[in-house]
Order: sequence, then structure tokens, then C-alpha cells
Amino acid sequence: MSEPLKIALLGAGVVGSQVARILDEQAGELEARVGRPLEIIGVGVRDVAKERPGIDPSLITADLEPLVEAADVVIEVMGGMEPAGSLVRRALTSGTSVVTANKELLAENLAEFSSLADASGADLYFEAAVAGAIPIVRPLRESLVGDEVYEVMGILNGTTNFILDKMITSGLEFDEALQQAKDLGYAEADPTADVGGHDAAAKAALLAGLAFHSDVKGSQVFREGITGITKQDIEAAKAMNCTVKLLAVASINGDDVAVKVHPAMVPLTHPLANVSGAFNAVFVTSREAGELMFLGPGAGGAPTASAVMGDVVTVARHIVRGGSTPSSSNYRRRRVSDIGASRTRYFISLEVEDRPGILAKSATVFATHHVSVQTVQQSYLEGLERQDGFSARLGFMTHEATESDLAAVVEELRAADFVGPNVRFMRIEGS
Ligand code: NAP
Ligand code: HSE
Repeated sequence: MSEPLKIALLGAGVVGSQVARILDEQAGELEARVGRPLEIIGVGVRDVAKERPGIDPSLITADLEPLVEAADVVIEVMGGMEPAGSLVRRALTSGTSVVTANKELLAENLAEFSSLADASGADLYFEAAVAGAIPIVRPLRESLVGDEVYEVMGILNGTTNFILDKMITSGLEFDEALQQAKDLGYAEADPTADVGGHDAAAKAALLAGLAFHSDVKGSQVFREGITGITKQDIEAAKAMNCTVKLLAVASINGDDVAVKVHPAMVPLTHPLANVSGAFNAVFVTSREAGELMFLGPGAGGAPTASAVMGDVVTVARHIVRGGSTPSSSNYRRRRVSDIGASRTRYFISLEVEDRPGILAKSATVFATHHVSVQTVQQSYLEGLERQDGFSARLGFMTHEATESDLAAVVEELRAADFVGPNVRFMRIEGS
């Protein structure tokens, strides 16, 4: 019988416990696919006293460095920056392949980790770090590497997609929808990483780096969360035959790359508009393949463990048969463009007095800042909405404009005496 490949499993939480289960339940199948058995030599945790059903207690350890040193493959599903970062560095430096689901760590360190892996001949695989079970890292890194990707647009956070979905389908305000997400176990007790867009920004950085062969860090991604989205925004989107999604958008912008995460109106005809609940999806546009859509569960123990195990089998096969895959290529070295230079379409809503010349004065503000208006709607305010003589609401949909020009329009409208205090805007993507 051939010698087992030694697996160090760092983390036995939501994802790690499922990885351990699959390694146990599917041992025979995995051995057949790899060509050698896969054996967990230790499970690294923080609290060694905790009950861990399904995991042999003799494998549990808090002594992580010796475990990493003894392994052929390190599976890092502990999360956080440290000690995960040091352990991954140690493994890659010594030629030990790493599979990780840690987007937060990778989003700041992928270029460095890739260099370490390439220098030592180790593999670095991280399919589970973006969009859980959905294959999207490997399609960008391997399947589409002979093509030229123009744009990657995705729903990369299930919690926020669930919350926005509830606001749209049940008419809830943000706080009510967030509470439902917490009650159902989608949102964490501290939901900041999800609702603030930090989680999606880390994932967006990884996808942008892979798609555009450049080093993109999570901290460089323009980020706006969903905490400010109101019922009024949702109703405005519905009136425009759109829905509202927290989108991650990475696209070529001249020689640079624009990478941003923000709520956006998405036309109901776009495939991403129909991604409901806690699902994730990624829409890729490339020169040769055209448009591709990837859809599925973006989180959860078993779905994420599925992606981890796909990577484990791949790196194990490389060990058995020889070779490794370059982790990511940064040769193109595109810079991340300033958000002000990024271009898209916008919807701006403002409340005004209903008297002659106000529409023209409002439209002039757009013209002054070189923002071209595509359509204008007018509706009338009723009851509590109707305050201080501002009795009409104007909704402007623009053609493509830069963020800096749009910001100038919004600033001038907010300062204008013929406009009420409630000036709102949202980006329109996918049209
Ligand atoms: P989790 O449930 O909190 O589990 C983390 C595990 O790592 C626990 O077993 C914990 O030990 C251990 N750990 C944490 N810090 C440690 C330390 N300093 N020393 C030793 N052990 C430590 O996390 P998770 O949800 O499984 O997520 C793991 C990783 O997968 C994260 O990077 C996350 O972003 C990523 N991910 C998760 C999902 C998901 O759906 N959950 C989806 C995609 C990607 P104790 O058990 O002793 O506390
Ligand atoms: N918290 C994330 C989400 C899953 O809601 O999609 C982990 O990446």
C-alpha cells in the first residue's frame, strides 16, 4: 500500500469540521482520485477542550507550528490574519502546499504568498476564499487564462443578498431584514464585515487580481456597504424595472483596473438580478468566451468544504505525479484606479418645489458637470413625505459618467435652495 499524504488541518469550525468529515467519509474515493491515501495528522484549534464530534480527539492540538512542519499539505480554515499568515508563510517557504479559504489573509498577501509558493515549488490553492462552493477562482486562474477578461461582476456576499432580497420582496427596512438574517443564522452577531462590504471587497480584490494579472489588495477596493439603503431606494429601483444588489465590480479602466463594491440598481433583465436569498453569483465578460455566469451557494460548512476538497485533491495529485500550478500571475501590473475616474450610470432622486423652471434648473446642474441625462421622471409626494413645500420628486437616470462628475452634481444639488434635503443616488450596473 502506498504511503499516505500527511494533511494538517488548521481549524475545525464551520468549514474545518466539514473538511474533516469528507476526508473521513470519502477516504476510499479520495485515495482512488489522488493515487495515495490522505491522512489527517493533526487538527489545529484554539480550544483543545471543546467537544468535536466526528474528529478523533487524539488529533486535536493547539501546537500549530510542528503540525505544519510535519505536513505534506496544509489546509488553513482557521481564518484571521495571525497566526494563519505566519503558518501559511512557513509552509510555502518550505515547499509545503497550502489550501486556504481565508480571503481576508489572501486579499492583503496573495502576491507575496504566490512568490513564496513559486520559489519553493509548492501549490497555493484558494477556491473556497471566494463565493464558497462556486468554482470561480480556478476558472479565472486556469480555464480563462488564455482569454482576455474585460469585467468581473459578482454578488459575493450571501448575507447582504439575503437582506436586500427581504427588503425587496417583503418591504422590510434594513434593520428588520438584518434581524431576520441574524435569526436565520445568515448574519453574524457582529455583521459589520458583511453589511459594510468588507467581506465582498476582499473577495473582489482576489478576483480582480486573477482576472487582470495584477496585484490588487482588499484595502485598495472602493467600498460602500448596504446600511444606508432605504425602502425609498428599493421603490425607486422597482419603478425603473431594476432590483438592488450589493455588487463587486472589477473592470479594465484604460491601463488601470477599477475595483469597487457598492449597492447598485441592476436591471431585472440581467442574470444577476435573479440571484436570490443567500446565493452568490459571478458574471464574467471576456473577449473570446463572451458572457459567463457562475451561480451557487457562497457559504456554509459543507458547500465551502466542497471547494476546499477540490483543491486538496488537485494539490495532492500534483504531489503524487509531480509539478505545481503558478498561484497567480501579476505580470500585467495594472494599478487600481482612483474611484473618481471610474465610470458608470447613475440614478439620482431629489425633492423639489413644483413650480416653473425647477426642472430646467435641476437639469442645468447635470449639464454644468458634464453628466448627460438619459431619462427624467416626476412623481408627487403625499402625506409625511411632503415637507417644506417640496412636493415633487424628480428621478434622473444618467448616461455613463465619472464618479467625480457625479459627486459634483450631487454636491451642488444638495446645496441648492430649490432642492429638499433628501438627495439620494445609486449606481446602475449591468445595463
Ligand atoms: P470558525 O467556525 O470560526 O472556525 C475557525 C476554526 O479555527 C476553529 O476551529 C478555531 O478553533 C480555529 N482557530 C481560530 N483561530 C485560531 C488560533 N489563533 N489558533 C488555533 N486555532 C484557531 O470559522 P469558519 O466559518 O470555519 O471559517 C474558516 C475560514 O473559512 C475563514 O477564513 C472564513 O473566512 C473562510 N470561509 C468561511 C465560510 C463559511 O461559510 N463559514 C465560507 C467561505 C470561506 P476553536 O474551535 O478552538 O475556536
Ligand atoms: N459571510 C459571508 C457571506 C460568507 O455572507 O457570504 C463567508 O465568506
